[in-house]
Amino acid sequence: MNFPSHGANPSHLYKASGVVKPSSVIDFSVNTNPDGPPGWLKDMWPSFFKTVGDYPDPSGQTAAEAIAGRLALLFENILLGNGAAEIIHFIARYASGQKAVIVTPAFSEYEEACRAYGCPVEYVPVDLQNWTLPINALVERAKEAAVLFICTPNNPTGQVFQKKELITLLEKTSSFGAIIVVDEAFYDFAGDESITSEIKSFAHLAVLHSMTKMYAVAGLRIGYVAASKEIITKLKPYRPHWNVNAIALQVAQKIASDTEYAVRTRKWIDKERERMIRELMVIGFVVLPSAVNFYLLKDPALDNQKPLLQFLLKQGIVLRHTENFPGLDGQWLRAAVKKEQDNNQLLSALKEWKSR
Ligand SMILES: Cc1ncc(COP(=O)(O)O)c(C=O)c1O
Repeated sequence: MNFPSHGANPSHLYKASGVVKPSSVIDFSVNTNPDGPPGWLKDMWPSFFKTVGDYPDPSGQTAAEAIAGRLALLFENILLGNGAAEIIHFIARYASGQKAVIVTPAFSEYEEACRAYGCPVEYVPVDLQNWTLPINALVERAKEAAVLFICTPNNPTGQVFQKKELITLLEKTSSFGAIIVVDEAFYDFAGDESITSEIKSFAHLAVLHSMTKMYAVAGLRIGYVAASKEIITKLKPYRPHWNVNAIALQVAQKIASDTEYAVRTRKWIDKERERMIRELMVIGFVVLPSAVNFYLLKDPALDNQKPLLQFLLKQGIVLRHTENFPGLDGQWLRAAVKKEQDNNQLLSALKEWKSR
């Protein structure tokens, strides 16, 4: 089976698995806010029409300044991307042909982008049951590397590395020349302490942010990297002119001033996630702790979860496979936290699976 390399767009998974897609499906493979975009997005619609006739500002200055202001940084510390995914490609292109180190499991796009630019990739695995940064191994590997990727909150596990561990790593690698990329795409869901303020102390730190997840604007594509002026200057030449469209720039500026939406969402998602984890454990699934809007689960009776994935697909329930996450290799499934009614449908399908 040739699984799609990302979640969302469930038609691809149905096609790859040979299961006929039912007329209605619930997509637990996509990790965006189940409430959808904030209400103010609809009110902005008429203003979008006015902007699309002109080229957008190539530097996205107004939006970048609003983001910098929210993070207590300067415009020169922000580079906008067509989603955080585009920034990952800028970084891989900067590292072209040089070694890239990835703390695994992690978002698959780091490896795909690095391989596209001829970077040899090395993994440093983390123990799923003891989620701490393998600092000594990383320091050793970073010596020869151009870039090191760390995903926290982690996609796909939902777990978070402690800020003090990240700072120790940054201290120990500051003289090496490798850029340490900390991907905080899911930071808004965890609400922990961000590492972003540390870019003032560490010139080799680059922090990735995505607006597409919490604010559910994945189709618009808005992300950015916060980093020292040196790193931004290194990455800028790889940015195509007008890479972020005019609508996305307007929305990014507005999102920068809306922290309340994230706080409200986090509150109910946290409750719903903990309820799901509790109930899944009661019916016999193994579930990893998570700080965000998704979690890993498995039926301990199976080595590879493909039969369970297929069973759920037939019922119109789409989970994310983990075949292309090194270290997971199909032994887990990832589920998003959705609204209560949808989560209950997942629970009843899993109960049915267990009672077959
Ligand atoms: C960890 C992580 N980083 C970055 C991205 C890319 O996000 P964006 O939609 O902003 O391109 C994703 C998307 O799923 C992700 O999971």
